[in-house]
Amino acid sequence: MSYRNSKVVIVGAGKVGSTTAFSIISQGLCEDVCLIDVNREHAVGEALDMSDSIFFMHRNVSVHAGDYDDCADADIVIITAAAPMPKDSTDRLEMLKPSLGVVREVVQKVMASGFGGIFLVVSNPVDIMTYYTWKVSGLPAQRVIGSGTYLDTARLSRALSEMYDLAPASVEAYVLGEHGDSEIVSWNSATIGGKRVDAVMRDNADRTAGVTREDLRKRTVQAGWDIFSRKGNTCYGIAASATAICKTILFDENRIVPVSVYVEGQYGIDGIYLSVPTIVDHTGAKEIVEIDLEKDELDALRKSADLLGAFYDRLDA
Ligand code: 2OP
Repeated sequence: MSYRNSKVVIVGAGKVGSTTAFSIISQGLCEDVCLIDVNREHAVGEALDMSDSIFFMHRNVSVHAGDYDDCADADIVIITAAAPMPKDSTDRLEMLKPSLGVVREVVQKVMASGFGGIFLVVSNPVDIMTYYTWKVSGLPAQRVIGSGTYLDTARLSRALSEMYDLAPASVEAYVLGEHGDSEIVSWNSATIGGKRVDAVMRDNADRTAGVTREDLRKRTVQAGWDIFSRKGNTCYGIAASATAICKTILFDENRIVPVSVYVEGQYGIDGIYLSVPTIVDHTGAKEIVEIDLEKDELDALRKSADLLGAFYDRLDA
């Protein structure tokens, strides 16, 4: 890929947006990071603070506050803006109604700039917000991606790696479907160091300690709430997952990642945004990969799609 001045705009300079910006800067993924927020002074403050870190980084990244005109030549626009999550919230779907207007306004302003890049949607409920962004933007679905269950996949890997004292990266186990309560685990394709997770659990009964597949799925679903209940948000995991997706796009990596994409017939699902293994490159969601799921896993994935699709007629897209 020839040298080019790549640029990422992040809309929403709250905890998630600013942590994502810092994560991108720390990894030196691009030359230009722009923060947009309704509170411009806050965005300026975050950018000034991050600018002080560039001296210590391995790449000279320009980080600054901006406005929607900055999206015109952006490679990626990350949407983190949303209504605040109620402190007593127990389901990301509760954020849908209050956040729809926020996301709609953001997408319309980004598109008015002449943006022709890729949307990465993080705002929750992310699968529905990604579908909504696609509809409002009018962009090809390939160029509208949601962070989806990439973070959940990392959380499942963390749970398994802690059980068997391994590096999380040694675990390959997809979490798919809704980024939420109805998400599924593809146990049929789950391995640790190339060995089926089922076999690892069986052959290490002492460390498995009676933990079941469903225990692990529930722990993964609960992981975000375990953080939210203690600190009132989550930011590092979601920022790192968004950064990893940006890297795959900006570096044209063709990496297969579980992200929220528009599914058109694959897995017997049609017209729904949800997370499935997807090859991501500089064009966005290049190709969906249909892995072999156990029948109950496929049924649960389709059920997750049905749950998400039921919200579509409530959107004013
Ligand atoms: C999470 O699970 C923010 O939904 C995101 O941490």
